[in-house]
Amino acid sequence: MMTDWTPSSWRQKPVKQVPAYPDMAALADAERQLASFPPLVFAGEARELKSRLAAVARGEAFLLQGGDCAESFAEHGADHIRDFFRVFLQMAVVLTHGGSKPVVKIGRVAGQFAKPRSADTEVIDGVELPSYRGDIINDIAFTEGSRVPDPARMLMAYRQSAATLNLLRAFSSGGYAELTRIHEWTMDFMKGSNSNARFEEVAKKIDDAITFMGALGLNPENTPALKQTSFYTSHEALLLGYEEALTRRDSISKNFYATSGHMLWIGDRTRNPDDAHVEYFAGIHNPIGVKCGPSLSNDDLLRLLDRLNPTDEAGRITLISRFGADKVRDHLPRLIETVQKAGRTVVWCCDPMHGNTIKASTGYKTRPFDSVLTEVKEFFSVHREMGTYAGGVHIEMTGDDVTECVGGMSAVTEQSLSDRYHTYCDPRLNGAQALELAFLVAEEIHAQKPVREVAPAAE
Ligand code: PEP
Ligand code: CO
Repeated sequence: MMTDWTPSSWRQKPVKQVPAYPDMAALADAERQLASFPPLVFAGEARELKSRLAAVARGEAFLLQGGDCAESFAEHGADHIRDFFRVFLQMAVVLTHGGSKPVVKIGRVAGQFAKPRSADTEVIDGVELPSYRGDIINDIAFTEGSRVPDPARMLMAYRQSAATLNLLRAFSSGGYAELTRIHEWTMDFMKGSNSNARFEEVAKKIDDAITFMGALGLNPENTPALKQTSFYTSHEALLLGYEEALTRRDSISKNFYATSGHMLWIGDRTRNPDDAHVEYFAGIHNPIGVKCGPSLSNDDLLRLLDRLNPTDEAGRITLISRFGADKVRDHLPRLIETVQKAGRTVVWCCDPMHGNTIKASTGYKTRPFDSVLTEVKEFFSVHREMGTYAGGVHIEMTGDDVTECVGGMSAVTEQSLSDRYHTYCDPRLNGAQALELAFLVAEEIHAQKPVREVAPAAE
């Protein structure tokens, strides 16, 4: 079935969300350069992630996926990356501790640059210009010149991804993630918060456990799990020319892998089974995500599973549902039933962000923190009722003290949104909100029944 697949076979299919590059020769040249550059990640790492996701599919681990809606060229300092990573680690620790399960950690980072848009143009004060499509394509400034797609931006995105990944690899293996440093992960602005007090309680228990293990002779020097962590990258593979240029054949398995990130996902706007994005994803061997919004029909879901995972390999597919807090019950049960009836293996993951975007009275795009929490709770309760495993959450967050989502204990209001509204695209949870969410998720994981019920003993 896959014999006619090549990294470029997507070019024969209808494709959505394509930038209108004015200079096709410059585009081809940039893609050629990218194709000659080293891979950002290795096939072996993607395979390792797939096997960890297979454990999630079996109910033995939990997936935490998160990061910026859109990375930007302007916000590329070490502090920004470190602050994201430390809040992400805090969340992971809360989930591991509360849920008593390993947490698979995947950032929306080191490649999350291309954005799908609902409209091709944007109007401000009567002026209409092409929409901003992410820093890998054009510039956010609202001028005619800035909005022209520029292929050189792909090279900049590649180099920024390499630098970000380099720092993240150092943080996760070089001691920053060492559990004995858990207290250092707290950000100054979060120190007085209620979530932080709860975090310090968890940190204290972990300290005690580490002291106990130390007495038994286990320490960060002889026990890698205490010193380092596994951290993976992911992004929406929207810009297929960029992805194609970074698609490489693995020398061991001889299979093709996307090497722009460990896991790639297909967005809700580009998941038509007959279109270019699905064609591209069908041939790469990375673990992949599929965003599932209200418009996904049961039939299309089945077609996607057939096309993207014909052998039903566990860990290959993560279904990332994003319905909106009040629509989870309209759609999640039918998709779960479809997957169950077809006997398919997936990781079920909840994105409580993208179905809950509203416009505040002050004009800002925002997300009520309450709706985010409600969607997560609904996701867990539907899975509990249907006997399936709620395997992960996917969120837009930052380590910074931004004011983009309203509510939470830090009490961002519609009026205070303008204080620190820095996102390049969708509103993100700030550090305190992200940690508050992690505590709720930890309780929900804890309340899940084991998936595999032990068969009753014969009488
Ligand atoms: C996103 O994750 O940033 C995104 C655009 O999501 P979706 O495709 O689910 O709308
Ligand atoms: Co987004």
